[in-house]
Amino acid sequence: MINDLLLKALNNQVVPRPPVWLMRQAGRYLPEYQKIRSQVGFLELCNNPELACEVSLQPYNRFKTDGVIVFSDILLPAQKMGLELEFTEEGPRINNLINSEEDIKKLQIPLANEENYPTLKAISLLKKEVGEKVPIIGFCGAPWTLFCYMVEGYSSSNFNKAKRFLHLNPQLSHQLLNKITNTLFLYLTMQVNSGANVLQIFDTWAGILSLEDYKTFALPYIKHLISDLVPLKVPIIFYTNNSHHLLPKISMLKVSALSLDWRCKLQEVRDNFGTNIGLQGNLDPAILLTDEVTVKEKTKEMIQSLRGWQTGYICNLGHGVLPNTPVENVHAMIDTVFEFSNEPVFAFTQ
Ligand code: CP3
Repeated sequence: MINDLLLKALNNQVVPRPPVWLMRQAGRYLPEYQKIRSQVGFLELCNNPELACEVSLQPYNRFKTDGVIVFSDILLPAQKMGLELEFTEEGPRINNLINSEEDIKKLQIPLANEENYPTLKAISLLKKEVGEKVPIIGFCGAPWTLFCYMVEGYSSSNFNKAKRFLHLNPQLSHQLLNKITNTLFLYLTMQVNSGANVLQIFDTWAGILSLEDYKTFALPYIKHLISDLVPLKVPIIFYTNNSHHLLPKISMLKVSALSLDWRCKLQEVRDNFGTNIGLQGNLDPAILLTDEVTVKEKTKEMIQSLRGWQTGYICNLGHGVLPNTPVENVHAMIDTVFEFSNEPVFAFTQ
């Protein structure tokens, strides 16, 4: 592979500069994405392998990111399991929510083939297009985060309905989480078989659980998923948001890197939880709403804040790129990372 910086960083090898890619690097802030979206719906786009491949490549073609994430959504497996998913102006919406044992029984564990998951075909197209040049990143949502949407129905700041279900029906919740985990295992396995070099698991809503509840309802399924994926020998990145209180547990996961949000201090996490695990992140996406000078400054500050950026570190945001982000600010962030090896940060040691 011509650009193996991301794989090296995930393997804890020394790199001349940190690799960089951005969560939601393809999306509404890009005019070339908007052009395609003005003609097709979001789900249609995810389920059209040629278009999904094209959209995945848009940020790579523009910025030369060190990884290409396949264009899809974490909620597609929930749809394939049998839920009616749509995307409205306000975001995702599931019309037949999980509310009972019957509902859970009805859910399928779909076969992971290209018919059920056009994303797999998109990955194999990406493999053909850029597989020799740059790593392809596959992904899924974590079981708990998918549970949130399947029970709540749409985005929420606290997912209280999902939590209510969890506490009133712990046994049923475990049944549901099990089914989700089995579905995700098949799906991720086939993502790797189709060409994904790296997997990222998004546990966006981890942080709304207490440590105790996380240990009961989220962690066992994540661990299960991760250990079942070990034979595939693909590095895994685990993303959580707002999860300071969960770090003692999350940092023990057998993953290559933790992707953290901007509330964490990367060096502090490294000091407290060891260097055995890589780190990814964690610029506040709101910084990309400012101007190029600020973006450059904050990007440098972030990298320099981590004394050991030469190993096990991947530059990224703390969450996805926001829709109204100016493209030139994304350019400024990525170019700052590209120029980083020229920085005289080592001058004083020589
Ligand atoms: O990173 C990438 O470039 C790959 C694509 C990607 C999307 N969603 C595309 C998308 C990825 C990795 C995701 C993950 C995802 N989806 C998560 C986990 C990470 C996170 O952001 O927390 C979650 C929770 C979802 C669920 C989801 N999808 C929500 C809540 C929304 C609505 C909010 C929003 O940003 O619009 C979506 C829609 C969505 N997913 C869009 C994109 C580009 C916007 C859809 C559009 O074009 O209108």
